[in-house]
Amino acid sequence: MQSFHHIASLRQALQAHRDAGRTIGFVPTMGNLHDAHIALVKQAKSLCDVVVVSIFVNRLQFGLNEDWDRYPRTLKEDSARLVGVKCDYLFCPDEHEIYPNGMDQQARVIVPSMADVLCGASRPGHFEGVTTVVSKLFNIVQPQKAVFGIKDYQQLAIIRRMVEDLCMPVEVVAGDIVREPDGLAMSSRNVFISEQERPKANQLNSSLNWIVEKIKNGERNYLALEEAAAQQIKAAGFSVDYVSICDSQYLQPAASDDTQLTILGAMYTQAARLIDNVSLTLE
Ligand code: PAJ
Repeated sequence: MQSFHHIASLRQALQAHRDAGRTIGFVPTMGNLHDAHIALVKQAKSLCDVVVVSIFVNRLQFGLNEDWDRYPRTLKEDSARLVGVKCDYLFCPDEHEIYPNGMDQQARVIVPSMADVLCGASRPGHFEGVTTVVSKLFNIVQPQKAVFGIKDYQQLAIIRRMVEDLCMPVEVVAGDIVREPDGLAMSSRNVFISEQERPKANQLNSSLNWIVEKIKNGERNYLALEEAAAQQIKAAGFSVDYVSICDSQYLQPAASDDTQLTILGAMYTQAARLIDNVSLTLE
């Protein structure tokens, strides 16, 4: 695996592959790689000739009081894991490379109707930071396919919409959620869950699955289901940001006759904000 810190040298290496007709797959990350990231890299490898992974903890998508400075940075271990799955290129730029004008980034990419709801409601500016940096990374790497995890469902849906609306020549591919044995979705933020909280941290997932079962059994009072699930999560000792039953494509509150549903939730442990989602199709 070759590592690049600079855009120009990465571009040069990738151009040679494009000239030879090889397809390029891309997995953007913020590092601290765990099994779920590695699964996305393997998926990209199965779809493309050459795979690029980026590691960049993007300050633009973190709020002022969020965890940008304590986000785990483990480049050495990450590189070793990527070598282990035969990743071809690692792009790990410093901030100046991505933001040459510092954080006074004027050009922005926004998908307002989908960015201000759910996680976006409690993290203002977050998805604007994501879509802006992903656009830059797409411009740098110019992949045919880019793989994103379903774990960050809202992010995936927003990026799909961005690609559609801006006619970006990249296919967005979704990777399944990878979970711990008890159902907790893997996340770099799980290291912040305390030992006491950990046995109950899968409550978010359990409550989302509880909603799925209720809907499958014919329940259509979605507000009541959201409220009951929120109560379950609170009873387990966590505070709830939201539990929301949405239409899968545009993430608006689901109507009782919608057939493609995604149920999304976010909760706070003492030191981490955790998210999860499950989708279901109704006949
Ligand atoms: P990061 O949180 O590092 O996630 C990188 C990719 O891994 C994302 O596509 C995310 O959805 C996926 N992922 C993380 N945990 C997962 C899990 N348990 N199952 C499946 N996929 C999982 O998401 C970001 O970084 C950033 O916002 C980024 C897109 C890189 C832009 O900065």
